Amino acid sequence: MARRTKLTKLTKLAVLPALTLAMALAGCGDGGGETDEGAAGGESNVQLVNEGKLTTCTGLPYKPFQYEEGGDVVGFDVDLVDLVAEDLGVEQEIVDTPFDGIQSGADLNAGKCDLAAAGMTITDVREKNLDFSDPYFEATQALLAKKGSGVTDLASLSGKKLAVQNGTTGFDYAQENAKDVELVNFEDLGLLLTAVETGQVDAGINDNGVLYDWVKEKTDFEVTTEFDTGEEYGIGVKTGNKALLELINKHIAEAKSSGKYDEIYEKWFGKAPESK
Ligand code: ARG
Repeated sequence: MARRTKLTKLTKLAVLPALTLAMALAGCGDGGGETDEGAAGGESNVQLVNEGKLTTCTGLPYKPFQYEEGGDVVGFDVDLVDLVAEDLGVEQEIVDTPFDGIQSGADLNAGKCDLAAAGMTITDVREKNLDFSDPYFEATQALLAKKGSGVTDLASLSGKKLAVQNGTTGFDYAQENAKDVELVNFEDLGLLLTAVETGQVDAGINDNGVLYDWVKEKTDFEVTTEFDTGEEYGIGVKTGNKALLELINKHIAEAKSSGKYDEIYEKWFGKAPESK
């Protein structure tokens, strides 16, 4: 399972299929019957970019959806995708890559991974560049600030600095709604949180789930408000990869009806889901 796999090894592994694809596109393939794509086991006709494994693109850290613990990648999304990997009879391998390339569809198109599981919101723009599974999680944007800072909403940030994560729906929301606020862009959530913690910025915007998780330990900070963006997470596959998409949807539906979804939810959020 992904929890036992070292990240460093994973990142290197992902280079190979991307290279192979680039060569094929450039017409320098050997033309032989060799292919990097291994058919998955079982009755499924899912084609995998790396033989014998289900390769997942994600942008770490995004706790509790995906993050490193003792060199392993664990989290809610990891457990959900493991259900698909188990059905295919393969291990899940995780490629850590900037979120912007995940949400744009570039990584999937380059054959870097079979799917993207990154607490990624389903949006109309993204739907044009990749295919989304059925929704598996509800989220909304939220504001993180130091307790007592007086930063309670976007208006109170006027003339101040707000940390945003590159390529995210939080970034879009801030661009549209935070007037007279200096946006400071970070490539991943870890860097954004550090900037808030060290006072490099006055606040940070990101999804409610990850921010509430962070303030559990960082008790000097709080989630000061939520913005009603009504988001839903979906797992992404390359446009047209119907076989894999159907398998993912099957497991999302099965997990919801069997109680497995609730079990995974409680494991990572410490309570039962209110809705899913
Ligand atoms: N839900 C937000 C979005 O889709 C943020 C996702 C960031 N995910 C990550 N793994 N860094 O834009």
